[in-house]
Amino acid sequence: MNTASTTITMSINGREVSGNAEPRTHLADFLREELLLTGTHLGCEQGVCGACTLMVDGRQVRSCLTLAVSCEKAEIETVEGYNRDPLMAEIRDAFKRHHGLQCGYCTPGMLAAVYDLIRRHPEADEDIIRRQLSGNLCRCTGYAGIVEAVKDVLAGNTPEATVTPGPRAFIPITEAKPATGGEESGEVVRLETGSSLSDLPSRAQLSEGIELIRSLDLDVSSDAIWQILKDPQKVVSCIPGASLTSQTDHNLIHGVCKVAVGPMAATFRGSAEVSTNDEALSGNVIGKGKDRLSRSILEGCLDYSVSANDNGGSSIKIKMLYRLSGPLSQFGRPAIVEEIADQLLKQIGVSLVEAATGKTTASNSHNSVGGISILLKSLLNILKKRFDRKL
Ligand code: FES
Ligand code: FES
Repeated sequence: MNTASTTITMSINGREVSGNAEPRTHLADFLREELLLTGTHLGCEQGVCGACTLMVDGRQVRSCLTLAVSCEKAEIETVEGYNRDPLMAEIRDAFKRHHGLQCGYCTPGMLAAVYDLIRRHPEADEDIIRRQLSGNLCRCTGYAGIVEAVKDVLAGNTPEATVTPGPRAFIPITEAKPATGGEESGEVVRLETGSSLSDLPSRAQLSEGIELIRSLDLDVSSDAIWQILKDPQKVVSCIPGASLTSQTDHNLIHGVCKVAVGPMAATFRGSAEVSTNDEALSGNVIGKGKDRLSRSILEGCLDYSVSANDNGGSSIKIKMLYRLSGPLSQFGRPAIVEEIADQLLKQIGVSLVEAATGKTTASNSHNSVGGISILLKSLLNILKKRFDRKL
């Protein structure tokens, strides 16, 4: 499966932006994770709830079902881009007056749908309003306030709406390479990608980190497993949530790892230096990744070696030193990380055996590392160990 990222350029809220997206990245993830435009919300991610609705080339789309790469050269308007739009200012005021929102989760998508509805159906009655908004689910308001707000705007019952001054949209320019020219001169904002060897931590810097030692027994010969372990592309395809974005040379790789553990979700993008020793069947990786949304950083090094075990299979020994800094470090408590690592290693072991025996395996890279089932299993194991200790 091709997971190489492509550079795409599109206009977002009147500004030309260029960034990298993998073929399967949907537009909502691209906006939220690459551009930090988190006003676009994600609910069902299946095209059902409407929370992710926004405008592409003047038409409503579900950004969870729209591939970012299909938006090359498209004009996209997100909820952050309406600050100077008088119609949207009227709609927002009407929503406030009629309590058209409570938690606000559905609101960005609802506003985009209402904006589109009012422009296409200026004569809409309540029946049309309800049918046109039937694809946008709201769990809080009961819809009455929303419908009243739309009726008010259509009837022109809106007091002077305040158009918010200021830039049309926030785009994390501090995270982007400086571009020549200003907004009006059509600058292209390019997002940072990759890093170099000098950005990686040294082993000495990691020596204060948390250590994790594990071993994994597999029913495949050490030679067969080594053929997989010495190839970074094959290894990455065995790790849930991970994908390689580029390989600058044999030693330096750039990639993405999605982590979703219970309520926490993060996308670490970063680089790693990989060294392997064919004779000793061993290798090491030293890497660093950053989740741009939470500004958390994960750094670590991993030493591994393969040997034949007594059952005719192989044994992989792993030693890892890591440190997690930033807001996500609260989820990095050793007990939780160790349990998650154990659950994860089981999955990786299955994928390695499948890869080594030539069985077709579904790409793991759609899935995130962790997930609710891993979290639950991990927490249950932690509780079980504590309970057993007390007996
Ligand atoms: S998140 Fe896109 S429709 Fe629900
Ligand atoms: S305001 Fe909460 S889901 Fe609509």
